[in-house]
Amino acid sequence: MTALQEPRTTRHAGPEHLVLSEHPVFRRFWYAVCAVDDVRTDVEPGRRGAAPLHRTVLGTDLVVWRPDPTGPVSVAHDRCAHRDAPLSMGWVADCHLVCPYHGWEWDRDGLTQRIPQFPDSPHPTKSGLTMVRSTERYGLVWVCLATDAEGGPLADIPEVVEWDDPAWRQVPEGSWDFDCTAMHLVENNIDPGHVAFVHMNSFGNPDNPELTDQNVQRTPYGLITWTDVPVEGRPGEDGATVRHTWSQVHLPFFMHLLIRYPDGLGHVMLKAITPVDDRRCTIHQVVLRTDTEADRPAADIRAFDHQVELEDKALLDRLPDEFPLAQHLNAHAKADKNSLLLRRMYTELVTGAWIPAPHPTTAVEA
Ligand code: FES
Ligand code: CO
Repeated sequence: MTALQEPRTTRHAGPEHLVLSEHPVFRRFWYAVCAVDDVRTDVEPGRRGAAPLHRTVLGTDLVVWRPDPTGPVSVAHDRCAHRDAPLSMGWVADCHLVCPYHGWEWDRDGLTQRIPQFPDSPHPTKSGLTMVRSTERYGLVWVCLATDAEGGPLADIPEVVEWDDPAWRQVPEGSWDFDCTAMHLVENNIDPGHVAFVHMNSFGNPDNPELTDQNVQRTPYGLITWTDVPVEGRPGEDGATVRHTWSQVHLPFFMHLLIRYPDGLGHVMLKAITPVDDRRCTIHQVVLRTDTEADRPAADIRAFDHQVELEDKALLDRLPDEFPLAQHLNAHAKADKNSLLLRRMYTELVTGAWIPAPHPTTAVEA
């Protein structure tokens, strides 16, 4: 997620396109903003305290900091109540977040603790921070923008059944920024037809693009699709093979992809996609594997997935800024049924015809 870029909003594109900022429902889900380890508590030389982070979610600028090295993170709107300074330019010292403009200080709950110019004078009302709900899970920091008055979160962060299972090792992979809508990135990740072409330099083969089957079903949380995808060139494999993939989309933007290779190797990809604004998104990715570090070093897995993400990014960054909902805006073929169901469910979500129910990412291997 790049700091210092203006949030981009798109003009009203009409009911045939989905524009996130037009639908408050998207504020009511949890989104990952960084890795837990990205929130610094060490003090770099020359600084007065640890550096907080700036992140943007749905066009809202946020400051992320850890008041106490052994305590939870705090998240607030990145704007000082005094004269609007970005608090992410400040620092964290003695468990307080300090504003870079006039040095006001707040505690972990955003309550004003010090106004240094006249420290004994009472703190003005409204001097506190506007806090944002936050938590830590799967090695990531998550936020939900919706206040209690807005109803808070509609669904929990999905339960990942492999996370606490010792049979699966955890490989955190970091994040990638995309210059496309969050919907375009979800759609890409359940699109079996692009693999042979977009990924021809990593694991696809444009001379072997045919799919033998493709299945998709609605679920209480979104949808699940399962497909055999011909792949090759994956590190550690000998030549062409077929990978069996179950992809769950927990609407709106969380994905759990289970890949099972013919030799039994299990590879899960958690894809937490965060809408930065109407036109940009970031994916935070964690892999879970049934093999060991000796079988396949984590560094190799990360390097391969980095190449794959960059291949998707090169194409997705060039798509239009508007995400079509109406069927007639695009041509469709048999391989697009995942995409068509996804678009239908986004339509139902924004019209209130359907809301996701919390549901664990059950280990589906039928
Ligand atoms: Fe933050 Fe003045 S703007 S203390
Ligand atoms: Co891809």
